[in-house]
Amino acid sequence: MAKSLSHKQAAQKIQKLIQEIEYHEKKYYVDNNPQISDYEFDILVKELERIESQFPELITPESPTQRVGEQPLEGFVSIEHRTPMLSLDNCYSEEELREFEERIKKIIPAKKIEYVSELKMDGLGISIMYRNGKYSQAVTRGDGFRGDDVTPNVKTIRSLPLVIDNPHEIEVRGEIYLPFKSFKKINQEREKTGEPVFANPRNAASGSLRLLDPKAVASRQLDVVLYSIFIEGEERPSQWENLKTLKKLGFKINTNSLSCANLDEAISFYKEWYERRETLDYDVDGVVIKVNSTEQQKLLGSTAKFPRWSISYKFPARQATTKIKDIIIQVGRTGALTPVAVLEPVSLSGITISSSTLHNQDEIKRKDIRVNDTVLIERSGDVIPKVVSVMKDRRTGIEVKFSFPSECPICHSQAFRPEGEAIYRCTNPSCPAQLKGSLLHFASRRAMNIEGLGWSLVDQLLEKNLVEKIPDLYSLKYEDLVELERMGPKSSENLLDEIEKTKKRDVTRLIYAIGIRYVGERTAQALAIHFENLDALANASVEELTQIEDIGPKVAESVVFFFKQPENKELVSRLKDAGLNFVLKAVEREGEKPLDGQNLVLTGALSSLSREEAKEMIEEMGGKVTSSVSRSTNYVVVGESPGSKLEKAQKLGIPTLNEKEFLKLVKKD
Ligand code: IVH
Repeated sequence: MAKSLSHKQAAQKIQKLIQEIEYHEKKYYVDNNPQISDYEFDILVKELERIESQFPELITPESPTQRVGEQPLEGFVSIEHRTPMLSLDNCYSEEELREFEERIKKIIPAKKIEYVSELKMDGLGISIMYRNGKYSQAVTRGDGFRGDDVTPNVKTIRSLPLVIDNPHEIEVRGEIYLPFKSFKKINQEREKTGEPVFANPRNAASGSLRLLDPKAVASRQLDVVLYSIFIEGEERPSQWENLKTLKKLGFKINTNSLSCANLDEAISFYKEWYERRETLDYDVDGVVIKVNSTEQQKLLGSTAKFPRWSISYKFPARQATTKIKDIIIQVGRTGALTPVAVLEPVSLSGITISSSTLHNQDEIKRKDIRVNDTVLIERSGDVIPKVVSVMKDRRTGIEVKFSFPSECPICHSQAFRPEGEAIYRCTNPSCPAQLKGSLLHFASRRAMNIEGLGWSLVDQLLEKNLVEKIPDLYSLKYEDLVELERMGPKSSENLLDEIEKTKKRDVTRLIYAIGIRYVGERTAQALAIHFENLDALANASVEELTQIEDIGPKVAESVVFFFKQPENKELVSRLKDAGLNFVLKAVEREGEKPLDGQNLVLTGALSSLSREEAKEMIEEMGGKVTSSVSRSTNYVVVGESPGSKLEKAQKLGIPTLNEKEFLKLVKKD
C-alpha cells in the first residue's frame, strides 16, 4: 500500500480514481442508483486523498476532493449575466392557460404546438458556466441582470459534475433547492442551538447558498436540477432535446418532465402532479409549460420580463400571511386546553382558513406569538394549517402577549400541567367540554360514524340533559329528538337509524371510539386483532399488552388505567348492554361484511396472494380497492417494496396493515 509511486504512476492513478469516483458520484447523486456501498466509495476517496497529499502538485480544482474550498469567502462579487435570466409569467387556472395558448397562436400560424411540461421547483435560479469542459463559475439569478458569484458554494453540490465531455463554452441554468429531508435536519439542528428555524425549504436553500464558508454550505446538502443549456455555436431543435443533452452531459434534470403533443396533455400533467406533489421529496409550487420547438420559441420572443413561450401554472399556495385576531382556549375530550389562533380569514390551497392550533403554551412562547401579530401560516398536504413564524418586523406596538389561563374556560375548574408535559388539562372529569369532545369523537366518521351527530346537535343534547354519558345515546327517543332545533321527523328517524347501525360496527372502531388516551386507529386495530374481543382487552395486563408488536409501555399503561376507572367500567358494560358488537368478525357471522363501505389501497407485493386475489377478497368482504390514498382511505395494505402510497398514508395518518394483519382481517377462519 505504502509503496511509493513515481510521479507518472501517481498521475495515472489519480486520473483513474477520479474517473471512478465521478462515475459513482453520478450514479449516487444524479441517477439515484448507487453501484457500491458508501463504505467502498469512502475508500476510493481516501485513496485519492492519500495520493494527492503525496503529490500536491497533481491536485486539480476539478478533483472530487476539491468540492469544498478551504477558504471562507469575504463577500459576494456581483456579476452581469450574459443574457438576462428572465422570470416566468404565472397563471392559476386552466382558463388562463388556454389564453396563453391563444396569445401564442396569434403569433405562430402552426396548428400544432407541442409543449414540454416540467415541475416548477421552489428553489433559487442559478446560472453555471463550464469552460474547456470544466466547472468555472456559478452566479445567482439576482435581479435577472446581475447576480452574486457563488462559485465555491455551488461547487459543493455533489450532483453537479465538475467536468463534462464538451470543450465549448457552456452555460446551464436551473434551480438550486433543498430536499425536505435536509430541510428538516437543518431546522432540527437550529432548534437545538436556539437559532431561528427557516420557514420553508426555499428560504433555507437561499440562506445556505449565501453562507460565506463553503464547508458550512457543503453540510447543508443542497441539490440542483438543470433545465436550460446554451452551447456556444450550437443549438438543439427543442426543449426536449435540451433536456436530453443536459442528461447526456451528466447533469441532473428533473425526470418528472413530460413531452406533450398538445396543451391538454400539459393540463393532465398539472392535474396529476397537483394530486401527487406530496409524494415528492422536494417542494414544487406549480408546473412550467414550455413551447417545445426552438424555432417557435424564437418567433415568440420575450417581453421585458418573461418569455412568451413559457408560463408557470401555479398550484394554489400552501403558505400565506394573515393576522392573529385573538387567541382562545379549546378544551378537548381528554381535558387538554389547546390554544387556538383566531385568524383573519385567508385563502390557502383553495380553502379559507380562519383558525389554527397553536399546540401549547411552550409553542406560543418559543415562537413569541402575540395577538395582533402578522404571521406566516402553512398547510402542507391535507394537513391542518399551522403558524410557521411571526413576522416580527411588521409589529406596530399593538401586539399583546398571551397569558395562559390557570383554569378551564368552560367549567372553571383548576387547570393542571403535569411535570414534563406540555399540556395543561382541566381537572374536572365531568367537565361538559370533555363530555362534548368524547361524544363528538365517538360519533366521528372514523370512529362509530354516526352521521348527523355534529357540534350543534351535541350541544343541544347536553343542554337538555338528554345525554350525560356516551351510552345515553342508545336510549334516545324519537319524541326527544323531534323537539330539538333543526330536527324534523325525518332527521330524527335518520339519527336513530344511524345510532342503531353502530351496534354492528367492527370492534376496532369501538376500541378507537371510546377514547383511550394514546389509542389511535392503528393501535385500536392492533389491539382488536390481538384480543379479538373488547372484554378480553379490558382485562389485559400491562405485560400482556406490551408483548404486542407496536404497543409500548406508555400505551399499555394507558389502556390498563382506562379500564380500571369505575366510570369506564360502567361505560363498557352499558355499551355491551346496549347491544354493541364487542367481538372481532362477529358481524360477519351475522351475514354482514366486515369491510362494508371501507376503502382500501394496496401497495407493494404480497407474498401469499396476487393483487387480483387480494382485491377479490376485499370486495367479497364488502370493501373497495382504490388506486390512490386520500383522507377517505380506511386502510393501506403494505406488501414488499411499497411505493409512495405508504408515505402518503403515513403523512395523512391512515392506518396500514401488513400482510399478516390484512389476512387476519379478511380471512374467514
Ligand atoms: S424556466 C426563461 N423551468 O421559476 C425561462 N424555471 O418564476 C426561465 N423555475 O426564475 C425559467 N423550475 O428560477 C424554468 N422547470 C423550470 C423551473 C423554473 C423553477 C424557477 C426559475 C425562474 C422562476 C420563475
